[in-house]
Amino acid sequence: MNPNEYITGLHHLTVSVGSAQEDIDFVTQVMGMRMIKQTVLFDGSASVYHLYYANADAEVGSVWTTFPFKKAGVYGKKGSGQIEVSGFSVHPDSLPFWKQHLDKHQVKNTGIVERFGQQMIHFEDPSGVGIGVFGDANDNRNAWQTDEISKDNGIRGIHGAVLSVREVEMMDKYLTEVLGFNKVGQEGQYHRYHIKDGGARKVIELHHEPDLPQGSWTFGVGIPHHIAFATANDEQSAELKAYIEGTGYTDVTEIKDRNYFHSIYTRTPGGQLFEFATSDIGFAVDEPADLLGHELLLPPFFEDRREELIKPLEKITVPHYLKD
Ligand SMILES: [Fe+2]
Repeated sequence: MNPNEYITGLHHLTVSVGSAQEDIDFVTQVMGMRMIKQTVLFDGSASVYHLYYANADAEVGSVWTTFPFKKAGVYGKKGSGQIEVSGFSVHPDSLPFWKQHLDKHQVKNTGIVERFGQQMIHFEDPSGVGIGVFGDANDNRNAWQTDEISKDNGIRGIHGAVLSVREVEMMDKYLTEVLGFNKVGQEGQYHRYHIKDGGARKVIELHHEPDLPQGSWTFGVGIPHHIAFATANDEQSAELKAYIEGTGYTDVTEIKDRNYFHSIYTRTPGGQLFEFATSDIGFAVDEPADLLGHELLLPPFFEDRREELIKPLEKITVPHYLKD
């Protein structure tokens, strides 16, 4: 089996951030993404929001999800073994706009930089999570439009992710020999891999930082938690789980019900947590497609704990398009 035949690209990217309101304001106003779901973290016993954002079509492969951990008082340590940059694609012509837009909102950024012949800007969300906008002229997915960000300039979906590693060799082998991704180049301390032929949703980079101390793998304000790749359905995920376990990486979880997709998770030799999520359920399973994100929704298996789960949550104001 070659997993690269099953993995259609990235499915979503997930990080832990500061306060929920700060996150909603940053992601919807500065990043200009569409808020598509308000729910809660399904793991553990702490009551924490799980907020979902996406492009205009709320597509698999455009989804950015956050756990605002500030209220629970849990903080992370940034470092190696983590996702350093969560990348989103924008049209290359819009990068000067993004530079200006980030400056206007006083978001510290790298300005337009170039790597592997591609222009991009790196910046951080208010909690310190690394984010990038990558110029990609071939990504024609529909961006969400805001008062400040036109459809042409907006984020079209996930581009890829940059993973920080202290050593390259074993993660390189994992990406190429276990997952079947294609190594396409090295530029300085960066190594680039394509899922299938690459392009939007299909780029992984390793950033070799041999002297960077290890960061935390927990949830916690300011650190990414995992990246998720897309499979078609449970059948494919089950085959993928058996295959990965057969290579010796036997710590692949059972299939978990995430309400909007089903997922398996496995820790990689670089330290990053990889998820493989199905593409066959979607976000309109519990609210109308044109009203995605309009109210706090719990999965059926949490309904009996509704009061207990909702009470500790921060009060939030959602974007204007989700208000009555
Ligand atoms: Fe996930």
